[in-house]
This record gives sequence, C-alpha cells and structure tokens, in this order.
Amino acid sequence: MTPMLAVLAVLASLLGAVSCEFSISIYAGYGFPLPNPNQPFKLPPASPPKNPRPDLKVGYYAANKCPQAEQIVKRAVEEATPGEKAGLIRLFFHDCFVQGCDASVLLEGPDTERTAFPNLSLRGFNIIEKAKAALEVECKGIVSCADIVAFAGRDASCSLSDGKINYQVPAGRYDGNVSRANDTFLNLPPPFGDLKLITDMFAAKGLDQTDMLVLSGGHSTGRSGCGSFTNSFSNRLQADNSSRAMNRTLADQLNTTCTADSVNVPLDYKTPYALDHQYYKNVQEHNVLFTSDAVLLESPETKVLVDSFARDPFFLSDIIPIGRNPWYDAFAKAMVKMGNWEVKNSTVGEIRQFCGKVNDKKTY
Ligand code: HEM
Repeated sequence: MTPMLAVLAVLASLLGAVSCEFSISIYAGYGFPLPNPNQPFKLPPASPPKNPRPDLKVGYYAANKCPQAEQIVKRAVEEATPGEKAGLIRLFFHDCFVQGCDASVLLEGPDTERTAFPNLSLRGFNIIEKAKAALEVECKGIVSCADIVAFAGRDASCSLSDGKINYQVPAGRYDGNVSRANDTFLNLPPPFGDLKLITDMFAAKGLDQTDMLVLSGGHSTGRSGCGSFTNSFSNRLQADNSSRAMNRTLADQLNTTCTADSVNVPLDYKTPYALDHQYYKNVQEHNVLFTSDAVLLESPETKVLVDSFARDPFFLSDIIPIGRNPWYDAFAKAMVKMGNWEVKNSTVGEIRQFCGKVNDKKTY
C-alpha cells in the first residue's frame, strides 16, 4: 500500500467510525462511499435550506457601508496566477457543497474541511486572505469571507474566460462556525462517480442535471493530481473497452507523465489556462481525466447538451464570431444558483475577522 493509500485507509476507517445515517462501503481511493447496488447509497435529502436564507442582493455592499468591496476582491484576484484562479473557482464549489456557501472551507484547525483529503489540493486561500486583509482595513467587520469566496469565483471565471463569463453576484452571506472534515466525504462528488451518483449529489444541493453538466465545464482549466484518476478504485489509464474509456493517445501520454500520484497534469490538455467550452469537445473525444466527466455522454439528455456546448460559433471572418456559445451564460447562471445553497444569516453566522478562524467573542 502506498503512503497515500494508507492515509486514505485511515481516513476511511475514521469515517466508518462516526455515527451517521449512511450505510456505506468504504472506498479507500478518495475517501468516498462506494455506490453499491445491494446497499443503495443514500444521499442527504434535497431539503430547503436549514436556516432561513437572508435575501441575497446584487450590490449588497454598495448599499451597506463598503461600496468598494467588490473592487478590492477583484484587484486581489487580478494578481493571482492562472492556477490560483482555477483554484478559486473550485474553492467556491467546495465551499457551497459542504455546509453551504459559508466559508466553512476556509477554517483552519484539526479536523476542519480543509484537512480532508478532497480539499488538500485546493488553492487560492492566499488570495482570499489578501482580499480580506484589504477589506478589514477599508471596512472593518463588514464583508463576509463567504461573499469574498463568491466574488473571487466570479472574478476568476471572468478573467480566465477573457471576459466571456461575467455576472453579478448576489451577496449578503454570513460566515459559518462549523467545519468538519467528515462532511466533505459525503457531500463532494467523487471523480469516479457515475452519472446517477453525480446527478444525485448535485440534486442534493438544489442543482439539476443541467447545472451539474454546465458546472463540470469548470474542468476546462486548472490541474489534477495523477492520483485522482489513477487510484486503485478507478484507474483511467488502464486499457478499458467500455464506452467511457479515456482516449488511448491521451492515456498513453499520461501513463508516461504520471510517475507519482502527486504529479499534476492539466485538466484540459488543449487550452489549459482558459475557462472555455473546449471541455465539451474533450468530453466528446474522450479526452477527459475523470469518470465523472466521461459519463456525460451516457444519457441522451446529457449528450445533447455536451454536443451543443461543444459547438464553435460560426465566424464571419477570422475574428468576428456570429452568435455565442450558450455555455458561457449557462455557467454564469449556474454559479449564481450554486451560491444560494444553505446561505447563513446573522443569527447563525458572523462576519469573520480572519477567514481562517472564527471570531474571538471577547475581542471582536
Ligand atoms: C461533477 C463533479 C466534480 C468532480 C467529481 C470533480 C473532481 C475534481 C477533481 C478530482 C479535481 C482534481 C483534484 C486534484 O487532484 O488536484 C478537480 C479539479 C478542479 N475542479 Fe472539479 N469536480 C467536480 C465539479 C466541479 C465543479 C462544479 C467545479 C466548478 C464550477 C469544478 C472546478 C474544478 C477546477 C477549476 C479544478 C482545478 C483546480 C486547480 O487547478 O486548482 N469542479 N475536480
């Protein structure tokens, strides 16, 4: 057993030890429950948010004592590397799926979400901290870390898509005080997930199958560790005759590159730094890393969407496109929708002073 798998096995056994409503077989490849036909995987119910959701509003800070808030976040994101920008898009997703969009993913300490295996490869925390520090100077105690994560996800998407993805972010989230490593395993979809599992896991967050497919387009930028698609549970580089197999040329290249689990490779082998609709062409051509990407061709409904998002606009000349690929606007809409999930209000949340820790009640 490699050291990585040993760590995962320990994580998995810890997960098995906690009392929870799930009856699961433990999979030691990503710390996720393995869907078992004899023991159906029970998802958290797709219930309305537990806490009354405050009405999020576009321009919330403009009207609430910090008109320059969004500009400050934008400036911090502009200074980020393309890789950190990709990380910021993923950070927003991982925040919203575990305890809702409440910056619980940012909390530091033993057994917080941040320490859980699926979150060890997150990046962009430094950008959030930088924005928060600037905001505390300008408008102390006003702007939540949860909103900073949402703004940063938008600004990173805008920058990496060359302005094609741009949208207004309803804001007014409060920061949560609960962050548990174990919550990540049951709420974050695993890369080996099949179409039903990932569809159900998004449905549990109020997102339908189209939202899931649209948001998966986030995999048109950024990177993955080889261990995420070459583990003992699902080795995407092995010979595979099934319809979801990886394109053999890409698999052969990755077999050479992936000398260790920790080696990182681009998610999109063609346009790795752009957030663009190339992802859907990659799906069509089986040039995608994860099972969860490949399975998007497996139902008529999802295949139709993949085909329509893969299409290039018609060009009148070399540079004048006619029409617009619908994915960019769909991605913007789905990011706003994801950002509604289990938002906290002032009764159950706070505005953190530092994004990595809950406030010390005596001093703040
Ligand atoms: C369908 C469910 C999804 C699964 C199974 C999944 C899984 C993964 C995995 C395993 C990685 C690589 C982790 C590593 O080894 O470093 C990754 C990276 C990434 N994911 Fe997803 N993901 C999903 C949905 C999403 C969504 C909804 C978004 C955002 C809208 C997203 C955005 C990203 C980005 C941008 C990266 C690259 C991050 C970086 O370069 O730091 N993913 N994802």
